[in-house]
Amino acid sequence: MDAVVARRGATAPTVIDKPRPEPDDGEALVRTLRVGVDGTDREVLAGTHGGFPDGEDHLVLGHEAVGVVVDPNGTDLAADDVVVPTVRRPPADGANGYFERGQEDMAPPDRCRERGIDGAHGFMAEYFTSPAATLVEIPESLAPLGFLVEPVSISEKAIEHAYASRSAFDWRPESALVLGNGPLGLITLAMLDGYDRTYCVGRRDRPDPTVDIIERLGATYVDSRETPVASFAAVHEPADFVYEATGHAKHAIETVAALAPGGVGALLGVPESWTFEVDGGDFHKDMVMNNKALVGSVNSAAGHFRAAADRLAGFPSWFTDALVTDVVGVEGAAEAFATDERTIKTAVEFDTL
Ligand code: NAP
Ligand code: BGC
Ligand code: ZN
Repeated sequence: MDAVVARRGATAPTVIDKPRPEPDDGEALVRTLRVGVDGTDREVLAGTHGGFPDGEDHLVLGHEAVGVVVDPNGTDLAADDVVVPTVRRPPADGANGYFERGQEDMAPPDRCRERGIDGAHGFMAEYFTSPAATLVEIPESLAPLGFLVEPVSISEKAIEHAYASRSAFDWRPESALVLGNGPLGLITLAMLDGYDRTYCVGRRDRPDPTVDIIERLGATYVDSRETPVASFAAVHEPADFVYEATGHAKHAIETVAALAPGGVGALLGVPESWTFEVDGGDFHKDMVMNNKALVGSVNSAAGHFRAAADRLAGFPSWFTDALVTDVVGVEGAAEAFATDERTIKTAVEFDTL
């Protein structure tokens, strides 16, 4: 079967031929429909995040997949079920408490592997196998967009954890700020209904398709070259909720200055090491005196995937049409990893229902 892989030392993906996998006990065999690409996949290819499976010279890419069960192999799944796989699997030394509790999204990096990212092959191949418990069933009608379930689930988890940190008082958020106009930022902006005012930060000139989406979602576009995040509160208003999806490390610190008293910031970006100067006193005092919270969040568990499928079904079709700019066949896989000014969300298509 065709598989799209990262090879050691190469920064572009390659298509290779691999044997179709055989399901072990408890696993189902899945025919892949589509696999999405995000900023993390590009970091994996660039060699700045994740890693190869032990002893292998390649990593099958892809962690945002949707497929159809072809062999339930005695599990509770049925042939033709449309499923989305979760990403994390136990480390080489076996399952630990995080996995036993179904909370592997809370495991630190050395207590898990991530398919398509870190230490385990991903889903960007014609077929994959996975334990039945890691395959979340979604309605057939969602199959073409099922590759968006995983990224939506990332924000389901982050928002859940951020809001939980404000659950001890009568928190009534009115304004939200999303940092980043990549796919994760735009997906999250689309999820933030219920706010009176929303803002999204980018660094692009108009005309730009992401700015069009931001404005059609009713949000205000904020260009960080004109209004740095540190000045956002003064220029616009302090935001009750800030969601960082740029991977720009200064934004983690600046999020606190952008927050309103009692507000919470969720940090999602995965930056590289970067040393810069910060007034630690201001940062510390602002956090304390204004009862602010910062929550880091990574990955998501099966419950977040189920919530994400419901959320995805509620997105307006104009939004997903504008978000998904390219769906390419396996022969064009390299294009799905490349970016230009019109690219937002891309996917590789292996098959249709
Ligand atoms: P992406 O496609 O790289 O998007 C990042 C966006 O942020 C880009 O549109 C970029 O603008 C913008 N940006 C970067 N620096 C900026 C700045 N200084 N001012 C304004 N805008 C800036 O990545 P993504 O897939 O949306 O993901 C976003 C981040 O979340 C990445 O770091 C990714 O690794 C991380 N992530 C984390 C999780 C998790 O579980 N925690 C899950 C998925 C992704 P330009 O395109 O104009 O450069
Ligand atoms: C994936 C998560 C993963 C994270 C860190 C994200 O792009 O969607 O599942 O935990 O990267 O590797
Ligand atoms: Zn991802």
